[in-house]
This record gives sequence, C-alpha cells and structure tokens, in this order.
Amino acid sequence: MAALPTSSPSASAAAPLDPVRVAVIGTGSISRRHVAGYRDAGAEVVAICDSHEAALERRGREWDVPRRYLDYHAMFQDGGFDAVSIAAPTAVHHPATLAAAAAGVHVLVEKPIALSLALADEMIAACREAGVVLQVNHQLRSGGPARKAKELLDAGAIGRVTYVRLRQAHDWAGLGVRPSFRTRASAGGGTLLDNGCHLMDLARFFGGRVEDVYARTATLQYDVELEDTAVVSLRFEDGALGTVETAWTATGWEQGFWVYGTEGALECTNRFGPEVLRHSYRASPGTTWGETDVATYDFAGAGPHSRHVTAFLAAVRGEGPVACSGEDGREAVRLVLAAYESAAQARALSLRDGYAAGTS
Ligand SMILES: NC(=O)c1ccc[n+]([C@@H]2O[C@H](COP(=O)([O-])OP(=O)(O)OC[C@H]3O[C@@H](n4cnc5c(N)ncnc54)[C@H](O)[C@@H]3O)[C@@H](O)[C@H]2O)c1
Repeated sequence: MAALPTSSPSASAAAPLDPVRVAVIGTGSISRRHVAGYRDAGAEVVAICDSHEAALERRGREWDVPRRYLDYHAMFQDGGFDAVSIAAPTAVHHPATLAAAAAGVHVLVEKPIALSLALADEMIAACREAGVVLQVNHQLRSGGPARKAKELLDAGAIGRVTYVRLRQAHDWAGLGVRPSFRTRASAGGGTLLDNGCHLMDLARFFGGRVEDVYARTATLQYDVELEDTAVVSLRFEDGALGTVETAWTATGWEQGFWVYGTEGALECTNRFGPEVLRHSYRASPGTTWGETDVATYDFAGAGPHSRHVTAFLAAVRGEGPVACSGEDGREAVRLVLAAYESAAQARALSLRDGYAAGTS
C-alpha cells in the first residue's frame, strides 16, 4: 500500500503552559466531545464562543466556563489561551481558523475541514505561516479499532489488501436533519460530505492513495436540498477496491469497517454491542468454508474523540505528531468532491494528476 502523506504544519509558536489553556468555538452537539476530551487530558477550557446566546449561556453554566463570547474575534482579541477547537458549522471553519492563526493559537478544526479545496489551502497556509498546529477532527483514525487494524495491516496480518468497505449511517435519532446540516451554504454537502469525509480519511488510512471514485447519491427520505444516501466505489493505487456507504436513512447509529486481504479479514462494527475488532484468518487448513481461525480485540477506555484530542494536545506541546493534518483533511474533502462530480456525471472519475474539484 502507498504511504500516506506525512506533511504537517510545523509548530513554532511558544511552548504552551501546562495545563494547556483552550477555547471552544461552537457549543453544539460535537463540542461536548472536545470539552470532555480536554478535561480528560488535563487541559483547561478557559473560554467558549457561540453566536446563539441561549446556547452559549446554557453551555457556560453546564461547563462552568465564565468567559463567554458571541463573536470569536472578540475572544481572540482578549486571548489567554493556547489552542482552540472549532466546532461550529463547516462554513465557519475557514474564517475562524484564519482568525486563530492570526492570533498565534493552535487549531483543532472539525471535519470537513472546509467547504472547498481553495479555502482548505488558505487554512493550511495560514497555520503554517503562523507556526501553529492545524489538526482536523477525523477522530476515527485515532480510535482503538482503527489503530489496531492499521497495526495488523502494516504487519501483513491479512496479506495484500483486496477490498475496503466503510460504513457510517444514522437517522438523526429520529428527530430530522439538524438545521445547520440542511443547507449547502452551511454544511457544503449532505451525508456524503458529513459522514463520507470521515470514511474517505479511513479509506486512505487503511488503503493508501485513492486513484478513482464512482459515486451515486440520492435524497430519499428528507425534504432537504442535499443527499441523504450515498455510495461510492473506490479504486486504490495498487488496484484494491473499496466502498464508502453513507446515509441519514439508517435506523439507529451504524459505524463499521471491513478490510479484506489475500490472507485474512479485519471486521469492526458497532451494530451488535461495543466495538470489537475481529481478525479472521486460516492457520488451520481443513476447517469448513465458514469456519476460520479468529482473533478478537476489544477496546475499553478512552474513545476516539478523547484519543484524538490527547494527540492534539501532545502536538501543541511539541511532544507528538499531528494525528490528522490539514493536508489529510483537504484530501478527504477532495475525494468527496470528486465523488459528487462523479455522481453528477454518472461516470468514474480519476484522481490522478492532481484532480481539483470542478475542473475535470
Ligand atoms: N467529528 C465528528 O464526528 C463530528 C460529528 C458531528 C459534527 N461534526 C462537525 O462539527 C461541526 C458542528 O457540528 P454540530 O453537530 O456540533 O452542529 P450544531 O448545529 O449542533 O452546533 C453548531 C453550533 O455552532 C454555533 N455557531 C454557528 N455559527 C457560529 C459562529 N459564527 N460562531 C460561533 N458559533 C457558531 C451554533 O449556534 C451551534 O450552537 C460541523 O462542521 C460538523 O460537520 C463532526
């Protein structure tokens, strides 16, 4: 499998104090994972910002954070923190990252990194020039199952990878699509961008460079301008195949990966209880078609968000690599945008030769 790009912003901002002081922009659903991760890792949440006053006050009380802002520019002006989580809608990621870089503040930005590749490029350049860390919150690659699977793949435990299947799907808990995810202006895309960018990141994590995509998208359940169901066929550089399945038309919350190779399989799903990684292989010839040797791994302890936040803090302190760089986040978006273009043109789209969305 081809190696993943390793480029990451070089952090040259002054070493932060311990505990690292952080701020959070956007106090909606996913911000809770950031705050929990920071607190688990011993960082101090010193300021929060949300443009919705009632939400801001509610979270401020819940999290016991007295410094509360309706405008992140004012928060950066007052300063007093080393790092910021940007957990506001995707349209806010770019301007808030630029403001953070200008203030010399390290950035953990939610996925997808930005609404376009050009905006992602500006974010990457701004953070690099400011010497601050830019980490994208594709937390699945930091989770126990994905890390263990990657370790097994790198050790050749399933031979040569032939097929990677990735699924993330849910039903909005039966409550309908949350407002900030309903419009192209706010979210940039439907389930394929929302869930699919995570899976494109995992596809690269497991399978290396993706060479072409062939996608179908549909809006089957909700009255929204974006797709609620999508499937993408992938071809990796070394010839292996893959599928990315995303949906807001599932029942409950589904997440899983299945990686198949010439000498085994790695399977992980949340559908039937806590996530367990199952490694099937044949060390004992003569068993039946259905019966294989199996090793299982379970993963108590910190979940992917906490591990990803911990990695971010280590990168901020200069004690570890950036777990998912701005370039990684950009590549996930590039693959999704290519998939949208493929669906619109009803044909496979090659990503060779530096494909940039909208230019084929
Ligand atoms: N990593 C993951 O698994 C994951 C999961 C869910 C969402 N996300 C991403 O996180 C981001 C937020 O999603 P969410 O589900 O928390 O959305 P949400 O709608 O629950 O929360 C967004 C919050 O941001 C606030 N906000 C909007 N504009 C703002 C601004 N200019 N300044 C400050 N606050 C602003 C809103 O008032 C709201 O409270 C999105 O980019 C989404 O794609 C990532």
